[in-house]
Amino acid sequence: MQINVQAIVDALREECGKPASPIYSFHVYAEMLQCSLRNGIMPKSVLEIGPGASLGSLLCFAAMGCERVAGVELSKIEKPSTEFISLLCDYLAAVSGFRWWRSYAADSQESTVNYPNLWDNVVFQQIANKVDCRDGTPIHEMPFQDNAFNFAYSIAVLEHLSNPEKSISKLFSVLQPGGITVHEIDLRDHDLDDIGRSRNHPLAFLNISKSDYDQGPVEQYSKDKSLSNRLESAWGNLGVWCNRLRRSDWEALFDSAGFTDVSTEVICQVDRDLVNRDAMVEPFQSKEIDDLTAVVIRLTARKAAPTM
Ligand SMILES: C[S@@+](CC[C@H](N)C(=O)[O-])C[C@H]1O[C@@H](n2cnc3c(N)ncnc32)[C@H](O)[C@@H]1O
Repeated sequence: MQINVQAIVDALREECGKPASPIYSFHVYAEMLQCSLRNGIMPKSVLEIGPGASLGSLLCFAAMGCERVAGVELSKIEKPSTEFISLLCDYLAAVSGFRWWRSYAADSQESTVNYPNLWDNVVFQQIANKVDCRDGTPIHEMPFQDNAFNFAYSIAVLEHLSNPEKSISKLFSVLQPGGITVHEIDLRDHDLDDIGRSRNHPLAFLNISKSDYDQGPVEQYSKDKSLSNRLESAWGNLGVWCNRLRRSDWEALFDSAGFTDVSTEVICQVDRDLVNRDAMVEPFQSKEIDDLTAVVIRLTARKAAPTM
């Protein structure tokens, strides 16, 4: 049978961009696992903040053998369906890699395989029960014990926090000493394309006073306003409210919550020439230019372990 690899790649590219898809889930998991390992932490107890449309990446952490896997999500979130779990399971088995020589070894009469394919024997329906996600709950009210997790992450969530100081301080409490936290933060205007502002410029919302912005055609995530119904266009013509904190604000906030080794990588930046500070309102107008060019960042921070 002739396989059309290009068609497979095209389909994967499309699915990667859909937050409710098992493939997106796997990519979030893989990237976050890598970030954690790069910082010397093997995730054992994992917290995802704002999983949004699916619990798929938490399922992957459960499948890799984490002892504890939990989430906190402001809006309602459905338990993973049997169909979703079975697709995720198949996909993980398909991408687990190096299968050819392992299955070759397994076929050999004389050998015993001590290194099974990572995902083939995972019973996903049981794993699903391991995921402890508290929905309808904002971060600052998450009911987890102090020092519960050695790794915590979020993707495109922190820019939506209406209570960032309290939220980051709560995150500090639930992280274990020595633990790592990683957050991808989208600092762009989340106006909708059909309103047009953000299509013109990702920093357009920095030109608007706080009161005008807060009253503008934007709506906040809430218990009833979820990512899933936004993707189904149930928010109508409303953009999504953001707290408009910049890269330096996030670094300062994590520092003052007690985290150490706070660092940010810029994932996406706009050209300096396209930043028009004169058009901006305060406090944005007084920011350093490099602070304004960063529009998507990944922030990493550690809760220091006590010194002996
Ligand atoms: C843009 S979505 C991202 C969802 C998911 N991380 C993803 O990558 O698809 C932002 C999510 O953050 C959640 N959220 C916003 N404020 C929150 C808060 N204070 N506590 C917990 N979740 C929050 C929203 O309900 C929404 O599901």
